[in-house]
Amino acid sequence: MPQLLERAEGLTTAQAPFVLAAQERGELYIRQPYELYSEENHETWRRLYSRMVPRWERYANEQFLAGVHSLCLNPDRLPRLEEVNRFLCPLTGFRAKAVSGYVPAYVFFDCLRNREFPTTVTIRPADHLDYLPEPDIFHDISGHVPMHTDRAFADTLVRFGECAHTAAERVLSIRNEALRLQGLTSILRAMARFFWFTIEFGLMNTRKGLRAYGSGLLSSFGELEHSMSSAEVQRYPIQLEWAINQPFEINHYQPLLFVVDGFDHLFSLVDKLEGWMKAGRLDNVEAGEPGVSEADLRSFLELHKGD
Ligand SMILES: [Fe+2]
Repeated sequence: MPQLLERAEGLTTAQAPFVLAAQERGELYIRQPYELYSEENHETWRRLYSRMVPRWERYANEQFLAGVHSLCLNPDRLPRLEEVNRFLCPLTGFRAKAVSGYVPAYVFFDCLRNREFPTTVTIRPADHLDYLPEPDIFHDISGHVPMHTDRAFADTLVRFGECAHTAAERVLSIRNEALRLQGLTSILRAMARFFWFTIEFGLMNTRKGLRAYGSGLLSSFGELEHSMSSAEVQRYPIQLEWAINQPFEINHYQPLLFVVDGFDHLFSLVDKLEGWMKAGRLDNVEAGEPGVSEADLRSFLELHKGD
């Protein structure tokens, strides 16, 4: 009977008993229980995917388009992570790894360092196609993972993941507990802002003009077009000092986006970010969004417990 109940309820965001039970047991890494997707879940994927394709062709960077092609995603059925990885792994060593929900900051960065991408297995409800604050499999697999097929982008992501080690070393060297907490909060805020304005919402100059490479844009039917064509959006060449001090809000279209000149440029910015981190320049960035959670702080502070 419980099996039947799960099958009927599917794997819909925040309503999936399989995932909620894993969360309750404190299990972060899970299997993708593919048999539990309902027909409605597959239909949601199909509708999301089909309306995105023409927008990708118009606004996505060419590495992303090549990535969608090489992953052989099925427009009609939710993807099996195993199959995605079979195409993805040989290209860059990256793989999608199913998780039950929120991944604390250090764990998330460390996954990237190991070429693993924590991936949500649930999909948004059929009546919420346009906006959901939490990630779902459409955002993760069709927004992020195609970018992971590109070697230069994948290496940048790994480099970013490595910065978490530098961050941990820096803050664990601060003996005063209050200062350590303050410094870590600031560094995590700076890293989250960098990730947001590049990996999630980045724009890129290309031979064909401005294109999107940020996954938050590439998985959003409305915001992808808005980001590229609306006069309401400010688009500026990225400046690291600006991005790390710029608060953002997640519940509306972004009014400010930053443009990079390519993935080599992006990689060099991550190098610079790490250099600034070592020099203490991230210890006191502008306050404001995003908040840094207890779980994020703990994931760093408990690394060397007992040292
Ligand atoms: Fe994301």
